[in-house]
Amino acid sequence: MIIAVDGPTASGKGTIAKALAAHFGLPVLDTGLLYRAVGYQTQLNHGDADNFADALAACDFPDALLDDPALRYETTGGLASRVSIHPQVRAALFQRQVDFANQPGGAVLDGRDIGTVIAPHADAKLFVTATPEERARRRHAEMIGRGVDVSLDAVIADVHARDARDTGRADAPLIRAADAMLLDNTNMDKDAALAAAIAFVEGRRALLG
Ligand code: DC
Repeated sequence: MIIAVDGPTASGKGTIAKALAAHFGLPVLDTGLLYRAVGYQTQLNHGDADNFADALAACDFPDALLDDPALRYETTGGLASRVSIHPQVRAALFQRQVDFANQPGGAVLDGRDIGTVIAPHADAKLFVTATPEERARRRHAEMIGRGVDVSLDAVIADVHARDARDTGRADAPLIRAADAMLLDNTNMDKDAALAAAIAFVEGRRALLG
């Protein structure tokens, strides 16, 4: 069974993908991490994330980079969003994601274009979202908890900028697949959102027989 989990930044899609993978006993791939690695490697190379040749050169990052805590930084997320605009970068990362999705037994992938481009044949697709203000509020609380000194206004502005780039790019923009379940968790806690996701996937699995 292939499960595609897409959604904007700070929507909780990563948490839901990991929990679904644990529940259904499937391997999980956070595809954002691949784009983060390219963004970060571009910076290590002293390249420009907005330049496609610099970003493409960073696509052969060493696998060990995927374990680098720096990939989780907000600044790296911004770099990832910028390199992900280049079709050449998306093409370079395409096969790795397709192979992961199509491995025997199935998989869970989370990202922006899983249900539309990477695994359009996925058995269950979810589009996880919340209002930009709520996503920013959660991210801000999480950053303050980590001791990062940042204003809520700055985080709201960053969320809007990331949304605009991710939905506005020409190649594989962030968009809900027509057959994806919309999971708007603005007014839901984590447990309720996860229960809804599991119920949806269980229903899809029952249909598969
Ligand atoms: O999910 P994330 O915040 O780690 O993703 C970082 C950036 O990577 C995101 O802003 C856009 C890009 N991305 C993408 O273009 N396609 C994906 N499947 C996953 C991430």
